[in-house]
Amino acid sequence: MKKPLIIIAAILTTASVAVPNMLFAHDGATGIVKERMDNFKATQGHLKAIGGLMRSQDYAAIIEHAEQIKAWADKIPEYFPAGSGAAPSAAKARIWEDFDGFKAAAKAHATATQGIIDAAAAEDMTALTSAFRATADSCGGCHKVFKK
Ligand code: HEC
Repeated sequence: MKKPLIIIAAILTTASVAVPNMLFAHDGATGIVKERMDNFKATQGHLKAIGGLMRSQDYAAIIEHAEQIKAWADKIPEYFPAGSGAAPSAAKARIWEDFDGFKAAAKAHATATQGIIDAAAAEDMTALTSAFRATADSCGGCHKVFKK
């Protein structure tokens, strides 16, 4: 009876090592394209975490996550050098046709995220709720125009 268990354990170990590679391969993205994808994935995780922490009103933890989102928001345009939109990137050519507009969308996102930080610092749940919504809208607002 022991052998099958060992085999199953070995399969599970192999699988758990292989899964992260598959998840983060982003269909072959490399270099700065992969870096920005990883940063967007991370930012999505931080936003989700804030949603959960709002229920427990853990303002200090909310601020930590929001600061991570804000730090990335400030850097987004630097991660979109001209000519980096080829597959597997989901970036639209429009980013480089209207780079000022893209920078403005990143700035609006940074400003909305700062709203989360300020509202959490003030422990103001009403302001936090609307800042959270504004931040999520700022993700979608940029995606709608600049992401495939
Ligand atoms: C200023 C524009 C902009 C803002 C703001 C923005 N995104 Fe994105 N996002 C993009 C673009 C462009 C891509 C496509 C990148 C690529 O494939 O090269 C992307 C890709 C993604 C991806 C896919 C990453 C992958 O693995 O391929 C996720 C997830 C994501 N964004 C989540 C978010 C979340 C959550 C927010 C807000 C907290 C956000 N984004 C804010 C422009 C933006």
